[in-house]
Amino acid sequence: MEDRLLYSSDVPARTKTLTVLGFETSCDETAASVVRLQVDGGATVLSNVVHSQIDDHQAYGGVVPEIAARSHVEMIAGVARRAMAGADVDYGALDGVAATAGPGLVGGVMVGLSFGKAVALSRGLPLIAVNHLEGHAVSARLGARVDYPFLLLLVSGGHCQLLEVRGIGEMTRLGTTIDDAAGEAFDKIAKAMGLGYPGGPALERLAESGDGRRFDLPRALLGRKDCDFSFSGLKTAASRLAQACETDQDRADLADGVQTAIARQLSERSERAMIDHAERHDSRRFVVAGGVAANRTVRATLEAAARRHGFEFLAPPLAYCTDNAAMIALAGAERLALGLVADIDVAARPRWPLDEARALADPVHAPGRKGAKA
Ligand code: KG4
Ligand code: ZN
Repeated sequence: MEDRLLYSSDVPARTKTLTVLGFETSCDETAASVVRLQVDGGATVLSNVVHSQIDDHQAYGGVVPEIAARSHVEMIAGVARRAMAGADVDYGALDGVAATAGPGLVGGVMVGLSFGKAVALSRGLPLIAVNHLEGHAVSARLGARVDYPFLLLLVSGGHCQLLEVRGIGEMTRLGTTIDDAAGEAFDKIAKAMGLGYPGGPALERLAESGDGRRFDLPRALLGRKDCDFSFSGLKTAASRLAQACETDQDRADLADGVQTAIARQLSERSERAMIDHAERHDSRRFVVAGGVAANRTVRATLEAAARRHGFEFLAPPLAYCTDNAAMIALAGAERLALGLVADIDVAARPRWPLDEARALADPVHAPGRKGAKA
């Protein structure tokens, strides 16, 4: 997707704060938020409204795309109203409207993107099409000052990648999963253990009373020295062990073993990337973002790894780890500051890799009809 570059006379002056209304509807959260980007690059979240659809999908054990899209249609206007009221600004105070344009469940993406287009058109505001993953990538900047460049581990339900982030639109993929994402592994294993949806938080709660050291769970890609991930072997082994669990303690121990194994793989690959990053950059900042960054064992394991390698460890506040619109509004504001806006006919994209050049040149997943996956 090509962005349009504003005429230089239309690019907002760097001496001005930018206030952006953002929308996020790519999965099972309907979200809207108003964020103000300060002249010095800091961000202030004026409002952050998230309507979770967990109750709508729980009975099915996962997200049902059709139900998700319908629910976004019903909820988005109210969520937008609450975000504007909570921010205590009127539409005249906005500098732009940002919406997730992909990747994700395309029926949902279309709802937020179309609503964003409607607001932009009716208020005469620029529209910014945001890659959901770029939102996660900047999310740590919502809670603290995080300068570019930084090394990023993006771990969500759909993605598991290490990226070098030099700035908005300037991200290089260092490694990705060859099968499941880390959040997907949490969710699928939790499902095999009979835990509810979403599985990650449920598995974390169960693991609190467990000790996973009794299980010898498989480690992935041992012969490789790169930054790619794989969780399918762990998923198969854990699902088989789940069938053999007899007591609550067995299940808690397995949950702890799985969580430790996922955290360990994430940290081993991150350490490789840190060594490489430190050779090429003076700055040493390591950021973890995405839903799985909410997991305390994952955070603690990565923080210890970062400390061993002399990296500053940064993670978004918990509310900005899982899907939200504040991260979309911030990415939108940073794009607007660079004059990167979208045409009103911009399309929703189910697939949209952050580092598209790398995804096409070195596909880990076959590109398929909908384009390169990650
Ligand atoms: O970033 P996110 O909200 O949505 C995507 O863009 O995918 O991530 C959702 C994923 C789910 O797989 C969920 O199980 C996982 O993040 N997750 C967790 C925790 N909280 C959310 N996984 C492990 N522990 C958690 N506390
Ligand atoms: Zn996400």
